[in-house]
Amino acid sequence: MEQDLRSFIERVKQQNPLEVVHIQEEIDTKYEISTLIMELEKARRYPLAIFDNVKGHDISVVTNVLAPRERLALAMDVHPNDLAAEFSHRINQRIEPVEVADAPFRENVFVGEEVDLYKLPILTHFPIDAGPYLTAGLVIAKDPVTGADTAGYHRMQLKGKDKLGISLHSRQRLWEYFRRSEEMGKSLEATIVLGIHPNISMGSMALIPYDQGKFAAMGGLFGAPLEVARCKTVDLTVPAYAEIIIEGEIVAGERESEGPFAEFTNYACYRSTENVFKVKAIQYRNKPLFQDITPAMSSEHITIVAVQREGDVLNALKRTLPNIKNVHAPISACGLFHCYISMKKIAEGQAQQAIFTAFSVDHNLKMVVVVDEDVDVFDERQVLWAMATRLQADKGVTIVPQHMGMGCTLDPSSDELSRTAKMGIDATKPLSGFAPTVEMSSEVQQKVQRFMGSFGL
Ligand SMILES: Cc1cc2nc3c(=O)[nH]c(=O)nc-3n(C[C@H](O)[C@H](O)[C@H](O)COP(=O)(O)O)c2cc1C
Repeated sequence: MEQDLRSFIERVKQQNPLEVVHIQEEIDTKYEISTLIMELEKARRYPLAIFDNVKGHDISVVTNVLAPRERLALAMDVHPNDLAAEFSHRINQRIEPVEVADAPFRENVFVGEEVDLYKLPILTHFPIDAGPYLTAGLVIAKDPVTGADTAGYHRMQLKGKDKLGISLHSRQRLWEYFRRSEEMGKSLEATIVLGIHPNISMGSMALIPYDQGKFAAMGGLFGAPLEVARCKTVDLTVPAYAEIIIEGEIVAGERESEGPFAEFTNYACYRSTENVFKVKAIQYRNKPLFQDITPAMSSEHITIVAVQREGDVLNALKRTLPNIKNVHAPISACGLFHCYISMKKIAEGQAQQAIFTAFSVDHNLKMVVVVDEDVDVFDERQVLWAMATRLQADKGVTIVPQHMGMGCTLDPSSDELSRTAKMGIDATKPLSGFAPTVEMSSEVQQKVQRFMGSFGL
């Protein structure tokens, strides 16, 4: 499988040419692209959009690459409903990366004084944002102790021609690797890559031990070694076919105010670790595609995180329950707070077990709904139908108060100590004595397909 964004865009086009939209009319980096994407989102449209005429820039902007689940599934060659299960399986089929000598990003090289971030079409997304932000910059770095590589998305505020503010607030590997480096009195070398294949984006979400690299998990997703190439000014390798790379370091001993920023729960977030990224070099392919991810509550911001969470919950459930069908962390709950589980119940009480298993996997979950296997968890209308017709609240709802939650401004409903209540809902029907569901004749369902074209389907 090709590992670059351009080949992936061609695949999306081949599958459905209407899914890739080139806009030639001039568009502003300030608010216009993100507002347009959010307007399309309201209409439930998620085109992979390429803006070729960006005001004041000669570099195209590509956005919405990761927005619909179907597109992520295409990247991995799986059915959308199997995406989470396949993701969590493949990231453990680790394949070590290989270093290649040539990388297209070496076509244009700017070092030292030549570095100028203002030449990149870095967008300002929403009026609440503190300024222009890199939102699709995947930050690559190495553990100063073990040498394990990491890759993760972090918001980065444009602060100067060679300076970005960066927030490591999810306090995962990059935060820890930087802490270790700072403790040794050293800045942490890092490279930001933009314009990458979705498998690299998804692989960066893998939760794996801190002494193991994420590149090998990305290899697992590709089913082949990730091809990496050496940077120019830092001792790192990065995905070889990235459109743009920005080399530099997260500076030890420096903090500067960063934010606010429109976060994925649709609230302005003032929380930040206030780190500083100093740029040493910028390299990019000829006619590079500058990738952006619309922040706030856009599908693109949420879906790749949801897939990782669904995979983790699915794995935990399958360890103790025999007939789990699927798990969905819907966008309506920011891919984070709610989880729908479908299962074939063979003993009363199994839905309760599923509820508490899911809560134990992720402290951010606030509501878990368990439905029978005939309900499609990816169709929220069906989930609500099951709740409407199979649930009696006095029997099927369990509430756990004062649990640890996400807190902060991301869930403004949590209390001042970031505590939240959890609600488990058993919307499965009893094992016997329940009304039969209306079914269609499958034979006739097939036969009437011949009329669908007349209805534009
Ligand atoms: C679009 C997007 C934006 C994100 N922004 C941030 C961020 O600004 N800061 C942060 O700490 N984590 C952020 N995250 C979560 C991290 O990218 C994720 O936890 C990642 O696994 C961390 O990588 P690391 O383990 O190398 O630290 C974001 C995730 C996505 C998908």
